[in-house]
Amino acid sequence: MNNVYKPDLMEVVDVHQHTPDVKSVKIRFQDPALAESFTFRVGQFGMFSLFGAGESTFNICSSSNWKGFLEFCFRKTGRVTESLWQTGPGDTIGFRGPYGNGYPMEAWEGKNLIFIGGGIAMPPIRCAVWYALENRARYGNITVLYGARTVKDLVYPDELDTWAKQERVRVIRCVDPGGETPEWTGQVGLIPHVLERAGVSAENSVALVIGPPIMIKFTLPVLSKMGLASADVYTSLENRMKCGIGKCGRCNCGPVYVCKDGPVFSFEQLSRLPADY
Ligand SMILES: Cc1cc2nc3c(=O)[nH]c(=O)nc-3n(C[C@H](O)[C@H](O)[C@H](O)COP(=O)(O)OP(=O)(O)OC[C@H]3O[C@@H](n4cnc5c(N)ncnc54)[C@H](O)[C@@H]3O)c2cc1C
Ligand code: FES
Repeated sequence: MNNVYKPDLMEVVDVHQHTPDVKSVKIRFQDPALAESFTFRVGQFGMFSLFGAGESTFNICSSSNWKGFLEFCFRKTGRVTESLWQTGPGDTIGFRGPYGNGYPMEAWEGKNLIFIGGGIAMPPIRCAVWYALENRARYGNITVLYGARTVKDLVYPDELDTWAKQERVRVIRCVDPGGETPEWTGQVGLIPHVLERAGVSAENSVALVIGPPIMIKFTLPVLSKMGLASADVYTSLENRMKCGIGKCGRCNCGPVYVCKDGPVFSFEQLSRLPADY
C-alpha cells in the first residue's frame, strides 16, 4: 500500500543565507520521473524532513512555473531548523507535498494585486509575485509592501529591485524606526502606518497579507478604511501541523483543517471560525 507519510528524496542544489537567521534552499527530486511530473500551486506548502532531526512545514516559495526544482526559505527557530541550517549542496532531504489549497490566482485574474508582507513572510508572497509577473496580462497593477525590523532582516532584496523595475509594479520597502542604516532609501515606519500614507488605490483590488499577528491586526483596519472588503483580503495561516493531510487533527480550527482546507483563507472566511485561529 502507498505510504502517504513516506517522503520523496530530494538533493540540495543550493543554499543562500539571507539574514543572520534566514536561509533559502533549492532542491530537486532525485527521481527524474518525479521531477518531470511534479506540479503545485503557488501558496501550497510541503513537509520537509531532515533525517534524524524531524519534519517541518514550509511554504514552497518558488513559482509554480519554474520546473525541475523547488525552493523554500526558513528561519532558524528550533530543533529541525537548527539541523537544516547545517545542510549544503549535495545533501539529501525528504519532501512530502504539495499540500493545502494555495492562492486563488485564477479568481484574482483581472484584479489589482496588493501584497503586504512582514519579516519572514516575504517567501510565501514571493512565489505569488513571480507567478503574477510571469502571467502579466492576467493581472492589473501590482503593489508589494514589504517591511522588516531592520535592513539586515529584509529577505530577497535583489528580487524587490527587479520587481520595482517592471511596468505597473510598485514596491514599497520599510523598516521599523531605528532599523534603518545611513544608506537606506526605503521608508521608515511600521507596515500599517506606511500603508496608510502610501496612497495605494483599493479599486478592483485583492490583498494578500502575511506576517506576525500584531502586524496583521493593525493592517486590516487600514485596508478596510481603504475600501477593501474582508472577502478580498487573504492570508496564509501557520498553525502547527503534524501530518499536513487532514488526518491527525493537530491543525484544526473548529470544523476546518488548516492543512487541507487552507492554509489560505480570506478574512471573511476566518471571521466565521472560532477566534483562536
Ligand atoms: C503552512 C505553514 C507554512 C509555513 N511556512 C514557513 C516558511 O515558509 N518558513 C519558515 O521559516 N517557517 C514556516 N512555517 C513555520 C515552521 O513550520 C516552523 O517554524 C518550524 O516547523 C519550526 O521547526 P523547528 O523544529 O525548528 O522548531 P521547534 O523546535 O518545533 O520550535 C521552535 C519554536 O518555534 C515555534 N514554532 C514551531 N512551529 C511553529 C508554527 N507553525 N508557528 C509558530 N511558531 C512555531 C515553537 O513554539 C517554538 O517556540 C510554516 C508553518 C506552516 C504551518
Ligand atoms: S496537520 Fe494533521 S490534520 Fe492538519
